[in-house]
Amino acid sequence: MENVIFFCVFSCWIMQITSSAGGSSDVRVRMGENITLNCSMRNRYEVAWYHLRSEELVLLISAEKDKLGRKLLTNYNPNSNRMKITADSWVTRVSLTISGVTESDSGLYFCGIKSDAPEMFFDKPIRLEIEDEVTVTERVLMFGGVGLAVFVFFLTTVIAGGIIYHRGQQKGWRAAKRASIMSYKSAI
Ligand SMILES: *[C@@H]1O[C@H](CO)[C@@H](O)[C@H](O)[C@H]1NC(C)=O
Ligand SMILES: *[C@@H]1O[C@H](CO)[C@@H](O)[C@H](O)[C@H]1NC(C)=O
Repeated sequence: MENVIFFCVFSCWIMQITSSAGGSSDVRVRMGENITLNCSMRNRYEVAWYHLRSEELVLLISAEKDKLGRKLLTNYNPNSNRMKITADSWVTRVSLTISGVTESDSGLYFCGIKSDAPEMFFDKPIRLEIEDEVTVTERVLMFGGVGLAVFVFFLTTVIAGGIIYHRGQQKGWRAAKRASIMSYKSAI
């Protein structure tokens, strides 16, 4: 019975971890650190990063290629003290760097790219999660909890196995004793 309960606790914990780890475009960063979010800009001329937080979509930064298409020129950046946009030498990959992230930087980030046509194309959004010391400690505790659950599960399995083995041995010993008494009796 204990085994069943512990196994459930154990498997429920695992399910919680796998569900929280889901989603490939999640980015976690500690408060105060710098973060670089990447976006492909192949065959497009303009790029813009949007931030969705508390149901409000904010244009963070926008840039466009120069005439030769070899440089990226920033044309809108109200947070220039902590945000910048960079590109590789062929301006195929652009990166938004935010330095010293705070809690208010968490949320969804959308990279929109555009050519001469008016439509803007959006990549899969990136979810940015800001961790402070408390959430880090929580995660350590959670993983510690799983370790403990696994340990208890194995311990109960070993103890239960030991009891069954011990009982079996006793039974066998009693049977052997009975058999020897019988053979003693019959010898008389
Ligand atoms: C963006 O690309 C840079 C350079 O390859 C890399 O260091 C960084 O981790 C990438 N950012 C994300 C969010 O994957
Ligand atoms: C973060 O970015 C700032 C400004 O760009 C820079 O001065 C600092 O060294 C960076 N910190 C890290 C840990 O890379």
